[in-house]
Amino acid sequence: MSSLFNHYDLAGLALRNRIVMAPMTRSRAVTTVPDALTATYYAQRASAGLIVTEGAQVSEQARGYLFTPGLHSRAQVAGWKSVTDAVRAKGGAVFAQLWHVGRLSHVSLQPGERAPVAPVAKAAAGVQAFGYREDGTPGQMPASTPRALGAGEIPGITADFVAAARNAVDAGFDGIEIHGANGYLFEQFINGGLNTRDDAYGGSIANRLRFVLETVDAVVAAIGSQRVGIRLSPFNRIFDMPAFEDEADTWMELAHELAGRGLAYVHLSNREAILAAAGERFIREFRAAHGGTLILAGNYTRATAESDLAAGLADLVAFGRPFIANPDLVERLRNGWPLADADGATFYGGNATGYTDYPAYSEEVASA
Ligand SMILES: Cc1cc2nc3c(=O)[nH]c(=O)nc-3n(C[C@H](O)[C@H](O)[C@H](O)COP(=O)(O)O)c2cc1C
Repeated sequence: MSSLFNHYDLAGLALRNRIVMAPMTRSRAVTTVPDALTATYYAQRASAGLIVTEGAQVSEQARGYLFTPGLHSRAQVAGWKSVTDAVRAKGGAVFAQLWHVGRLSHVSLQPGERAPVAPVAKAAAGVQAFGYREDGTPGQMPASTPRALGAGEIPGITADFVAAARNAVDAGFDGIEIHGANGYLFEQFINGGLNTRDDAYGGSIANRLRFVLETVDAVVAAIGSQRVGIRLSPFNRIFDMPAFEDEADTWMELAHELAGRGLAYVHLSNREAILAAAGERFIREFRAAHGGTLILAGNYTRATAESDLAAGLADLVAFGRPFIANPDLVERLRNGWPLADADGATFYGGNATGYTDYPAYSEEVASA
């Protein structure tokens, strides 16, 4: 049997297979509280070895898009509890992704309509936020120019992550994933091209890693290292993230720093971009430096997933879009059944259409 379908011990959590459902924002939480439809959606996909939920904002300030769920109020915790109950009833395991978008937001989403926050007051060029237009209707609009965080405000954001991590445990999650990837707040600090601060949170590699490592340490102290993963995207260029001089060294230093912290896993979201920028050697060196469980994501098929596991590039592989259209992705991969294609028009927002109405293969065959 292929190792894709082997059990895996994730820091004491038994996973049924090595297939992870990648975190995917679906923008169905109209009131920021996940509801019964969201519980159904995740339960349908519970045969994944591990589900990582869509990003959940850790505060109102952390939000960059309408209809994304939070994990900072009692109502949100109760909503997520119905999700974790439904996943666990199907024998699944689930981590919550904790998210702060930083500058990738819009004033209409921010408390008091203030500017979103970032390491520096530089807008993300060409990036759209999903907020409220002047007439109060939802729509796409350019991300607002952020204000630079004062050094004194940064511990408050770390505290928001700690509170959200505690909330995640209360809501029944097996753990949390810190979203340090894809151009959001932590990556804005890590990126030396964007983060030109001249205080303790900018400049040298150690200074640019300070915020994310302080947050990792605080969350680990609160809920335990075995419950904490982190997602990163070395060499990411999306959302206006520039190349910078000591880029490979920065990520390798982070891998070394994380090694001493014994996290449940490190998750790299952009396998193909890393391979294009720095080759397989970078992933091998990163994995060796970090030493613990490594999850890779990005355009996987059964064949490429199996070959990466066999080659020792990763311990677990994450699938994103294939899980949208194939709730029974694991069974389809195992049996070599055809995969349905996801409809991009229903990725974000709306209702059950394109969310919970994709059939399992057996239902597809029965109705044909
Ligand atoms: C609709 C959609 C929403 C996404 N939302 C998130 C998110 O909330 N957090 C995150 O880290 N990545 C997010 N991603 C990226 C995915 O987790 C994944 O890394 C990416 O889709 C590549 O995997 P794939 O080729 O298997 O889809 C999203 C991707 C899609 C398609």
